[in-house]
Parts: sequence; C-alpha cells; structure tokens
Amino acid sequence: MASLKICEDTFWVGVNDKRDILFEGLWPITNGVSYNAYIIKGSEKIALIDSVDKFYSKELLANIEEVVKCSEIDYFIMNHIEPDHSGSFEAVIKEAKKAKVVSSQSGINFARSYYGENFEAITVKDGDIIDLGNHKLKFITAPWLHWPETIFTYDTLSQALFSCDAFGTFGSIEGKMFDEDIDKKFYESEMKRYFADIVSHYSQYVLKAGEKIKDLPIKILCPSHGPIYRKDPKYPINLYLKWSSGKDEEKVLIVYGSMYDHTDEIANYVENKIKEKGIDVKSFNVCKVHPSFILPELIDAKAVILGSPTYEASIYPPITNFLEYVKVKSIKQKIFGVFANYTWGSNIPEQIKNRLNEIGMKVIEPMVLIKGRMKEEDKNKIDALIENLFKVLKD
Ligand SMILES: Cc1cc2nc3c(=O)[nH]c(=O)nc-3n(C[C@H](O)[C@H](O)[C@H](O)COP(=O)(O)O)c2cc1C
Ligand SMILES: [Fe+2]
Ligand SMILES: [Fe+2]
Repeated sequence: MASLKICEDTFWVGVNDKRDILFEGLWPITNGVSYNAYIIKGSEKIALIDSVDKFYSKELLANIEEVVKCSEIDYFIMNHIEPDHSGSFEAVIKEAKKAKVVSSQSGINFARSYYGENFEAITVKDGDIIDLGNHKLKFITAPWLHWPETIFTYDTLSQALFSCDAFGTFGSIEGKMFDEDIDKKFYESEMKRYFADIVSHYSQYVLKAGEKIKDLPIKILCPSHGPIYRKDPKYPINLYLKWSSGKDEEKVLIVYGSMYDHTDEIANYVENKIKEKGIDVKSFNVCKVHPSFILPELIDAKAVILGSPTYEASIYPPITNFLEYVKVKSIKQKIFGVFANYTWGSNIPEQIKNRLNEIGMKVIEPMVLIKGRMKEEDKNKIDALIENLFKVLKD
C-alpha cells in the first residue's frame, strides 16, 4: 500500500511487514504488522512523524515522495527510538537534508547512540510546541510506552494524536486502514496479544498516560502499529486502560506440556471438571502454543493450573520457558495450582512451587504428583485441588 490521506494535510506513509516471522525475534507475527509513519504538510513547514523498520527504507521514501519531496521535510519527529520506528533513520536523513530531528532528550541520546552525531537535533519537553504554520504540534511525554524516551505528538488543528506503540496492534493493514472498515474482532484479539506481549509490563504507565490525555480532544488516533481510528478513537484507548487496570475475570487457564500424553490426559480431566462447575476455562499445551498467545489470556485470568512432566529431574523445559515469559512480563500475582507427572522419581511440584514463589505467585495445595498414567485415586487428589481453587476464586 502506498501513501494514504487521513485528513486535511495529513498522510500515512508507512509500510506493512509481512516478511518478518518474529517481532523482536520473539513474538510470532503470523498476520504481519504495520509500521506507521505520517507526513503533516503545514502551511509553513513539513513534518515526518516516525519512520519504519530498516528493511523497508526504500518503500518509506517512495511513499513520502508521493506526498512531498523528502528534501522539503523540516522536522523528523521521533516519538520512539526502537528500531521498528527508527530503523530507516539514516535513509531518511540522507534524503531529508534540511530536516531537524525532534525527540525527547533521551530520545536524541538513544538516536545518537544508534545513528551517530551527524544530524541536527531539537529536544522537546512536555507541552512544547513545534509550529508548522496552521498545524501546531504539541508534545506529550509518555515515558515507558514503550521505552523511557517515548513521547506522543498531538496536532492541535486536526486533533490527531500520534501515540506510537501505545494503542497499537499486531496485524498488517493491507487495504483497510481506518477503523470504520476493519474487522474489529480480528484486531481486538491481535491488539490484546500486542498489549500482553509488548506493553503489559508497563501497565502503570498506560494508566498514567490515560490520565494525561483524558481531557484531550482526540478526533483521530494514529498509533504506529495497526489501523487509524477516526470513527471511535477512544475504543483502543479504553481497551488498553481496561487491560492495564489489573481487574481479573473469573477465568482459569490450564497451561501444561506433554511428550507422551500422560500430562495431557490429566489436563483434559482438569478442564472438564472446571467446565462442569460452569467456570470459564481455557487450556494451552505449551508444546503447541507459543507464550505470545497465552499471555493475553493470562493478563485477566484469576487462576492458572500448571502441569508438567518430569524431565531429567527438572521441570519440563517448555514450562520453564513459559514461566520465564511470565517473570519478564511482570505478570501480576495469580493463584496457581500445580500437577506433575513422572515415572521413576520426581520433586517437580516443589521445584515449580519455588519458581512460582520466586516470581511472586501464590500456590494453593494440594499439589498433585502422578506416577505414569492417571488412576482413579489420582482423580480424588485433583478434585481436592480444584475444590480448593474454587474456594480461593470465590473469595
Ligand atoms: C528425556 C526424558 C527425561 C525424563 N526424565 C525423568 C525424570 O528425571 N524422572 C522421572 O520420574 N521421569 C522422567 N521421565 C519420564 C516422564 O516424566 C514420564 O514419561 C511422563 O509420564 C511423561 O509425561 P507425558 O506423557 O505427559 O509426556 C523422562 C522422560 C523423558 C523422555
Ligand atoms: Fe516499541
Ligand atoms: Fe513499535
């Protein structure tokens, strides 16, 4: 997709990435992702807001040239320096020879560490304005969304907010750019995954930014990943605020791994037992499902039942891996139940409990250790675990 007019004087000049398999080398982008960049053609000056991944530099420059000459750009505003938005920096400043780079003090500092000294910089603080003539661009600091340097850019004339990673989503936007045209259900699920994978660690900063922009009249919301919201700009903001609120739903996740189906059979039994009680339950086999797709369910689940086979006297590595994601993303406290499977000897429940306690999770008893195939007497232990879980859930 080439450039696209958003409103008077304002154009999308970004790209869609359908080549990369893992965003940040970690998160599957099965449905692609967009890197949005924008041109604002003021009556006096021209601004480019953000750039794109390095791989797409040529496409970005071609899209810009459809709207303005690169050499006419006065300001290159960098809301965020992560290379999905700054990777084309050198290609841009090579062509936009008179452009001054605009960012927060730490943004300029980060940019210098990546791209050297060979550019002129303007540092901006909260509330500073850059005048394009009719369009006046106001900067709002939004630290930790997604890095410490991040700012939002607000156009006081069009009332468009350029929020970079905040309110963004996975999923490329081929063909359908505006919220009035998109498959809302698809983007809501991709947005929740993007939120959980990329932003959830900084939930408290989402709430702070939400307070800051609460009274800002926003007619158009222009994030740097995913669609542009003209019909209902508050919709993604409210979703982000809800997911950041820390409010849990009465939902239980079963997260387990299995090589030869013994643990799988236990997980199925647990799932059916919970379903019988009419409680929302979702089950994930970590051997088949990447943590990227489990974290969005985890952020608003009250409880998790974790199941692991014993592997070389250790927790099964895909379970350890999952717990590492839970730790790194600072998922807030959840109630955990534990079951494990073994053949000749195991202290896996204790190992899992220690690991869970280390990362701030609460473990309820009894932890269930089953030898070989699940028997009738094992079911009684699992039933006791589920009963205790329900008691805590209802508290
Ligand atoms: C490579 C490997 C290492 C294992 N290490 C242990 C072990 O240290 N202690 C043990 O009791 N069982 C061990 N087992 C046996 C499994 O824990 C057991 O087969 C279990 O039932 C597997 O669960 P699953 O059918 O859900 O994969 C190991 C199995 C494999 C394949
Ligand atoms: Fe980012
Ligand atoms: Fe980003």
